[in-house]
Amino acid sequence: MQRRPVQLLFPDGFLWGAATSAHQVEGGNVNSDWWRFEHTPGSPAGVSSGDGIDHLNRYREDFDLLASLGHTAHRLSVEWARIEPAPGEFSDAALAHYRRVLEALRERGLRSFVTLHHFTLPAWFADRGGWLGPDALAVFDRYCARVLAALGDLVDFVCTINEPQMVALHGYLEGYHPPGVTNAVLWKRVGRVLLEAHHRAVATTRAHADAAPGLVVQLPVLAPAREDAVTRRYRDELRAEIVDLYLDALRPGAGGDWLGVQYYRKNWVDPASPTIFAPPPPGFATTQLGWAVYADGLREVLVRAARTGLPLYVTENGIATEDDAERVDYLEAHLGAVLDAIGDGVDVRGYLHWSAFDNFEWAEGYRPRFGLIAVDRAAGFRREPKPSAYAFQRVAESGDLSR
Ligand code: NOJ
Repeated sequence: MQRRPVQLLFPDGFLWGAATSAHQVEGGNVNSDWWRFEHTPGSPAGVSSGDGIDHLNRYREDFDLLASLGHTAHRLSVEWARIEPAPGEFSDAALAHYRRVLEALRERGLRSFVTLHHFTLPAWFADRGGWLGPDALAVFDRYCARVLAALGDLVDFVCTINEPQMVALHGYLEGYHPPGVTNAVLWKRVGRVLLEAHHRAVATTRAHADAAPGLVVQLPVLAPAREDAVTRRYRDELRAEIVDLYLDALRPGAGGDWLGVQYYRKNWVDPASPTIFAPPPPGFATTQLGWAVYADGLREVLVRAARTGLPLYVTENGIATEDDAERVDYLEAHLGAVLDAIGDGVDVRGYLHWSAFDNFEWAEGYRPRFGLIAVDRAAGFRREPKPSAYAFQRVAESGDLSR
């Protein structure tokens, strides 16, 4: 692929920000399936999310900090387990809390991306069969309608379901997210149920709010571990299931107004590997999580996603590392790839880094550091922007990657 620079300037009005999700930052999400998973002996999630980074109480100062660092947008999720702690019983206090959160974003001039479902479910919903339960879609619709009626006037962009394919893969094939199932058939069914849930949430958004609904999908680059026909066919099958299904099945008009692209890494796949993604070949730069760094991949997946015809936002992209200089390199290389995609004619309108803060990385606990801002959980949750936060600010404020 041709390298840059075609241009180093981002378009006017390009949105800059970072992403979080409720369970990973708020703390004390005790009515959720994840909390229970974390506290089940022998669970693949070895650590409790505990107090998170206490964002539940500190959102105002957190948003002050992000605004001061040049952010013009912010992505967060609302927590279903707080909003509907028992079936059909909605918490006015939780909804009022999220109104205050969204008002705090508005007061600071930050556009909001609000995810309705980001990996966590109310424990009672999980007990009724989760996404495979008989009335799952109707129950999710009811929750969405209530949230959008209560908060919709304060939301700019609705992210319906975060990474449906990863919910299916991690929860139903690999088993390291709840419900911890490993089943070669069920994960595909869950992926399709979530696609349907997305389409319904788009309709529900249109009925209750002025916000623009969109799907946010992780689009990994998938490479065959070996150049033989069997391995390539295996790669093609996986790509059809976890990438193309979500790009091609978005119904025109009903699939949403935009698409969120989440990109982290290149993956090698090998039918002989016991894990879905085989380890990267030797010599490839990897992160704290062993993920292979491949910035051109972001250009590739943006070009692939452009075939939906929808405006694109990068709604997650980031690196787990203790070495913040690596994060600066990763950030600049991936922003360069966004510019390359724009140079290819792709309509990319914003970039939200994962993540604003170091936070709870699911089954991996607090060890992986994805944040532009460090959080010292042992010292009163003190926030400390890293050099990468200032590198990000320079680009966000100037719109220019060349300086
Ligand atoms: C995708 C998920 O949406 C987010 O919750 C997670 O922390 C990041 N990727 C990093 O793994």
